[in-house]
Amino acid sequence: MTITGRGVVARRAGEPAHVEEILIDPPGPGEVLVRVQASGVCHTDLHYKLGSVGNDFPYLLGHEGAGIVEAVGEGVTAPAVGDYVILAWRAPCGNCRFCAIGQPHLCAASLNAEPRMRTADGVTLSPALGIGTFCTHTVVAARQAVPVSTECPPVQACLIGCGVMTGIGAVLYTASVRRGSTVAVFGCGGVGASVIQGARIAHAAKIIAVDIAENKLNWAREFGATDLVNARDGDPVAAIKELTGGNGVDFSFEAIGRPETLLQALWARDLAGTCVLIGVPDPTMRLDLPIQQFFGLGGALRVSWYGDCLPSRDFPMLADWYRRGDLDLDRAVTRVITLDETEPAFEAMERGETLRSVVHLPDD
Ligand SMILES: NC(=O)c1ccc[n+]([C@@H]2O[C@H](COP(=O)([O-])OP(=O)(O)OC[C@H]3O[C@@H](n4cnc5c(N)ncnc54)[C@H](O)[C@@H]3O)[C@@H](O)[C@H]2O)c1
Ligand SMILES: [Zn+2]
Ligand SMILES: [Zn+2]
Repeated sequence: MTITGRGVVARRAGEPAHVEEILIDPPGPGEVLVRVQASGVCHTDLHYKLGSVGNDFPYLLGHEGAGIVEAVGEGVTAPAVGDYVILAWRAPCGNCRFCAIGQPHLCAASLNAEPRMRTADGVTLSPALGIGTFCTHTVVAARQAVPVSTECPPVQACLIGCGVMTGIGAVLYTASVRRGSTVAVFGCGGVGASVIQGARIAHAAKIIAVDIAENKLNWAREFGATDLVNARDGDPVAAIKELTGGNGVDFSFEAIGRPETLLQALWARDLAGTCVLIGVPDPTMRLDLPIQQFFGLGGALRVSWYGDCLPSRDFPMLADWYRRGDLDLDRAVTRVITLDETEPAFEAMERGETLRSVVHLPDD
């Protein structure tokens, strides 16, 4: 039976998104219906709203969610009705050329549900990153709904669904940061703060946080940064060199999505260092790269999608780290908001006031 819910819909590029009544069809074969309990507001939702990652409007925004499975489609053996899940925006298919050679984190045919949601006037919605979580209910592929311990509550758990997993995974999987190494993180928002926390968990010796906002740098210190660089005060590359005996860092991370900060992250490396690009660029961006300088430094530039994670392996692990007190998710929640407050949350994000606003949809 089709149900009626509420969701935050972006109708046109650059315009405010509004809460609308939405119609949700039952889950099809291999799909599940999830009642969303919480959803973090990630910068990628802002990219969607502005039209910089696609033009399939109207979008159902939100992609960092946790909730309860309410119904399962034909053939679904897991998860089960009543399971508490975090939603993954990538779920390996098991069959593509990457899955076939044991690299499912690169899956080229990641699973999604068929379009099951539409506006009250009948227009099919494109769920952000194939999920759509700023809503009361969403339909996803069964393998996108990963059961985790209820000891990690929804407002905290939802952050594992994107920003936290991306940041921690970029450190542990994309870069394989070694204990004792030096790290610089450009951009200390929700994702960058998780990179810092990941570097702390990986026992990096020096973790240099770079941002243009003092409040972000103060939070960065609380997450484990050992040194803070305000890029407004001068050249951050020079500051990082000074902090590393003139050498630069072993690992640099760009968590903003801008050409100038990607170049800074490249030049802040020591010889043979690794630079990881996490920030999402817009289609107009270009890099003017002195190739000889790039060659001379050696090392690697890697792009990290979702921290090269495997949600079914990693979501329960991170939820467990939270339960044990090894992963701080509480501090990442700057504001808890209602579904009607996502526009002010985007504005607060643009003004740099938040690490994460989290939409909370309490149980009725
Ligand atoms: N690769 C992935 O899989 C993936 C996953 C999630 C998010 N992202 C992307 O990661 C990026 C960060 O996301 P977020 O949610 O943390 O965003 P955010 O807005 O919370 O954080 C961005 C941070 O960058 C800082 N910043 C801006 N300009 C700067 C500059 N010139 N120098 C230093 N710092 C600067 C801001 O002050 C802010 O703290 C976004 O582009 C987002 O789309 C990528
Ligand atoms: Zn995200
Ligand atoms: Zn695959």
